[in-house]
Amino acid sequence: MIVDLRSDTVTRPTPGMRAAMANADVGDDVFGEDPTVNALEARVAAMLGKEEGLFVPTGTMANQVAIRCLTEPGDEILLEADAHPFHYEAGAAAVISGVTIRLLQGVRGVLDPDVVRQAVRAPNVHHAPARLFCVENTANRGGGTVIPASHVAALCDVARAAGLSCHLDGARLWNAATVDGPDSGAVARSLLAHAAPFDTVSVCFSKGLGAPVGSMLVGPRALLVRARRFRKMLGGGMRQVGILAEACAYALDAHLPLLGDDHRRARALWSALGERGWAVEGEPASNMVYVRCADAPGVAAQLESRGVRCLALAWDRIRLVTHLQVDDDGVAHALAGFDALAGSAR
Ligand SMILES: Cc1ncc(COP(=O)(O)O)c(C=O)c1O
Repeated sequence: MIVDLRSDTVTRPTPGMRAAMANADVGDDVFGEDPTVNALEARVAAMLGKEEGLFVPTGTMANQVAIRCLTEPGDEILLEADAHPFHYEAGAAAVISGVTIRLLQGVRGVLDPDVVRQAVRAPNVHHAPARLFCVENTANRGGGTVIPASHVAALCDVARAAGLSCHLDGARLWNAATVDGPDSGAVARSLLAHAAPFDTVSVCFSKGLGAPVGSMLVGPRALLVRARRFRKMLGGGMRQVGILAEACAYALDAHLPLLGDDHRRARALWSALGERGWAVEGEPASNMVYVRCADAPGVAAQLESRGVRCLALAWDRIRLVTHLQVDDDGVAHALAGFDALAGSAR
């Protein structure tokens, strides 16, 4: 048995999802004629309280199109120090938007409003003008941290008072809203509350929701016209892509309600590893468990040989992510893998 805990991006489409995809109604989406894409864009925009949606292949493209829409070359954007566009988007903001990135230090991915307040410099000919503030929720490298909607609103109030636009990287916003669940009404209200302070929001279907491909950028209609042009410029105008949008719609119906199980399994893994003496970071709020150890690549390699896959994100830090294809047996298998490691691995 192999349990793959490297990321929730490793999920494979379920049989139900594959069947839905096979039957999807499609058209040429660059002509705006794919009914399945159009329906998904409208559905997700409504779920997040925005006027329009734009279906894109990846979370990276959704973030980068948002940054391009909300800035001009030479601007500065403010990000928490662990944010995805800084660490994992190949320097795209510099190339595509010509902006500089200013990193602000948070705690487990969460900024203090005063840090944002102090980061915005008074207008001066020497400075790149700060134009955009981005939040990531859940905060991936922060530990899968869920930032409460009230805290996010306070952060965005500070940014707006300083004249900045606001973008939410909500690749795992579904997980954040699930924490406010468990019932679907509470999740729906939470999604709206989390998205409300932002001009634009990106969400992914290809992480815990289990779709093979697909992200969405939502925001005001006029801005989305610009976004559609930038998507085309980046080569993201796709044709009969309803076949993928159908997978995403299926994921919202069938897999969004299951995210709470991923969170429960992450907590079970975290507490069992803690009991065994592993240096687990703070209790997981969502689906990620981070563990400190002396030689993370070595531990990851030893676990791999025992059929447990994890990511060494730094020399002293590994990440384990629960998802659609990790059941209770998978968690037990992962724990057995840790148990088989030498005590010195801790
Ligand atoms: C927080 C966050 N934002 C954006 C992305 C980018 O998504 P993609 O891999 O679809 O480009 C990821 C990917 O894991 C992520 O974790």
